[in-house]
Amino acid sequence: MGNLICRSCKKWFSLDERIWQCVCGGLLDIEFQPAFPIDKIRQRKPNMWRYREAIPISDDGNIITLDEGFTSLIPVEINGIRVFIKQDHLFPTGSYKDRGASVLISKVKELGIKNVVEDSSGNAGCAIAAYCAKGGIHCQIFVPEDTSPGKLAQIQLYGAKLNKIPGSREDTARAVLKAAEKDYYASHSWNPFFFHGTKTFAFEICEQLGWKAPDSLIVPVGNGTLLLGAYLGFGELLRAGIIHKFPKIIGVQSIHCAPLYKAFQAGLDEIPKIEKGETLAEGIAIAEPVRGKQILDAVIKTHGRLIAVDELEIIKSLRDLGQKGFYVEPTAAATIAGLGQYLKTSDPNEITVSVLTSHGLKATEKILKILGETFPTIY
Ligand SMILES: Cc1ncc(COP(=O)(O)O)c(C=O)c1O
Ligand SMILES: [Zn+2]
Repeated sequence: MGNLICRSCKKWFSLDERIWQCVCGGLLDIEFQPAFPIDKIRQRKPNMWRYREAIPISDDGNIITLDEGFTSLIPVEINGIRVFIKQDHLFPTGSYKDRGASVLISKVKELGIKNVVEDSSGNAGCAIAAYCAKGGIHCQIFVPEDTSPGKLAQIQLYGAKLNKIPGSREDTARAVLKAAEKDYYASHSWNPFFFHGTKTFAFEICEQLGWKAPDSLIVPVGNGTLLLGAYLGFGELLRAGIIHKFPKIIGVQSIHCAPLYKAFQAGLDEIPKIEKGETLAEGIAIAEPVRGKQILDAVIKTHGRLIAVDELEIIKSLRDLGQKGFYVEPTAAATIAGLGQYLKTSDPNEITVSVLTSHGLKATEKILKILGETFPTIY
């Protein structure tokens, strides 16, 4: 049904090899011919597996699902302009990462793998742990010590072994690579099957807009699983002749951890080393994105850009979203702060889509702090 191909040395592997990385150390992609039988798709259940012919899992019997996806795309006014927001905070584990986890862990089952490891700022770990629980697969999740307690509770409740790593997110990434010498690395940033789940975000937006692409898409970006998934998905729809252009893809970072923004602003080909500061947007605080160059290429190819937001913008956005009835974690609010920046100079007639990536209940203590003493007089 397809092949794995190395982005660096172009070596091919069968889709059934138990690898997550090329022998040369390069990143893998999947070469695969998706199909979109629209009349059949329309009659299927409203979940992301309605695009079954576009998802590279061979046997239906291996699919591990919690009925995820086909989240609503609702009109919302931001700064007086009507945009569409995809409610991906309403997934079974409370974040869009379920898209990637459902496909990746289905592939893990297809490969007959019994033990996996994963590292995460929290949400990807929750998603991988939940789908492993559903599939009867043993999993170990590595997270930074300061990960939000709500996410730690969730990972443990799903029965995963939780490894809290002192130091930075990058220290956690290094710790899991050691564990990945023994067990399969179900990585949301390295493993290409994850992106063949997150790409369903693009399929759903397209179907929900009447099989059309939006003009612009504003998404958060750390390791780029949603941004690259969207690029992959819209690319497949374009090649299938269903849409006729890419949306401009705009990635939002926290100004305190913005390597991609800095590369884009300076016109660099490589991702610069950055000094990482504290940010409420823990989900996108990635100083060394594994697929950084690939993310920059996707943004440039679609005539998009990168935006950086500061902590006050994140807090204001979180409060504004609350006033509209949305309860999300600060990382998700950062995206909408970036959307606000984008709308200041965009054409008001554009069809613009953005996303709420994760539920507020995952970050109760951060939100309590915001409500409490941090900036009481400003907002
Ligand atoms: C809530 C939330 N939004 C966005 C992202 C960004 O995802 P990525 O690192 O794949 O770009 C994350 C990642 O953990 C997240 O938790
Ligand atoms: Zn290679």
